[in-house]
Amino acid sequence: MSDTQVLFRPITIRNTTFKNRLAMAPMTRGFSPDGVPGDNVRDYYARRAAADVGLIISEGTLVHREGAADNSNYPLFWGDKPLQGWKNVIDAVHLNDGKMAPQLWHLGMMRKPGTGHFPDAPTDGPSGITLKGKKIFEEPSISDVEAMAQAYVDAAADAVRLGFDAIEFHGAHGYLIHNFFCDVTNKRTDRFGGTLVDRARFAIDIIKETRKVVGDTPIILRWSQWHQVDYTSRLTSSLDELAPFLEAIAASGVDMLHASQRRYWEPEFPEIDGKDGLNLAGWCKKITGLPSMSVGSVGLGGDFFGAFAGEGAKTRPITDLIERMERDEFDMIAVGRALLQDPNWVTKVKEGRLDELQPYDASAIKTLY
Ligand SMILES: Cc1cc2nc3c(=O)[nH]c(=O)nc-3n(C[C@H](O)[C@H](O)[C@H](O)COP(=O)(O)O)c2cc1C
Repeated sequence: MSDTQVLFRPITIRNTTFKNRLAMAPMTRGFSPDGVPGDNVRDYYARRAAADVGLIISEGTLVHREGAADNSNYPLFWGDKPLQGWKNVIDAVHLNDGKMAPQLWHLGMMRKPGTGHFPDAPTDGPSGITLKGKKIFEEPSISDVEAMAQAYVDAAADAVRLGFDAIEFHGAHGYLIHNFFCDVTNKRTDRFGGTLVDRARFAIDIIKETRKVVGDTPIILRWSQWHQVDYTSRLTSSLDELAPFLEAIAASGVDMLHASQRRYWEPEFPEIDGKDGLNLAGWCKKITGLPSMSVGSVGLGGDFFGAFAGEGAKTRPITDLIERMERDEFDMIAVGRALLQDPNWVTKVKEGRLDELQPYDASAIKTLY
């Protein structure tokens, strides 16, 4: 057994067993014209399923709000044709012995008004305030907010109906759920606004209502401290504030917290436990006792400018990832660009062929399938 075998222990989340600890991170590709995932999308995911990925998380796919997107090549998760496309995807993943969650997404205030599948549709956000703090439309009513939440619940119900194995809600990076978490974009004074715990209410409602329609299907919430227009921003730098926020979310019945960070080896609170301290997923697990998933530059290192995440141009050993897994700091690890670059990345790790792992070539992204 090579060291990497710690990554290949099965894990059971609620009633579902995943064959290993390696997930494919959600990655938007924009290759679903008019929102319909076609055979190319099916084959792209089936290829990773066939190559040992324990849980495939789809690219962000849009819940049923017409103002959810800013690009009509992003896949919808509603309507007959898109859902048939997703049915073809999940069937192909299952045929290849894989498991998959759709990542349910709404861009919220990250959308540029006038774009997407329905350019004329209004943008959704908690208070009509952009990530930079500019008010661009009136605050929606409570019933509008409830309709936004319901769109996630409906999509989750469809996911289960199609046969998906888990659900991930995209609550990270400055998109709609994150807009509710963030005090710049959420100035509501009703039950969806207030303290950080109050601002978790939108996500909590979605998770509670989803549980009623998905039974024991695992529900994952992805979240981040930062938003994409400012990697240095944080929802909170205080553990005293973070803990009740995460506890409230855990009490909603979510099954796993997926903590998005750019480099998994970076400690969240080095002032508390030092430079090798817990990363964000580590704190999620410690605070809530729930399983957690980490992510960020797995297998990638070196300087890399303009990439979504931190690194990429060189490979980086995964020794410290193995050590963190051995310590059970977190339970799963998502791999993004390395797995985009090389569909066989997980198989190579499983077989100890670490010298065959490749760096990420962002300039080739359009050719990476
Ligand atoms: C091309 C690309 C598209 C992405 N799209 C999404 C997305 O749809 N949803 C999401 O939560 N994160 C998205 N991300 C972030 C990744 O899920 C992941 O967190 C990030 O790339 C860091 O992991 P890595 O260093 O292993 O690539 C995207 C990243 C890339 C490179």
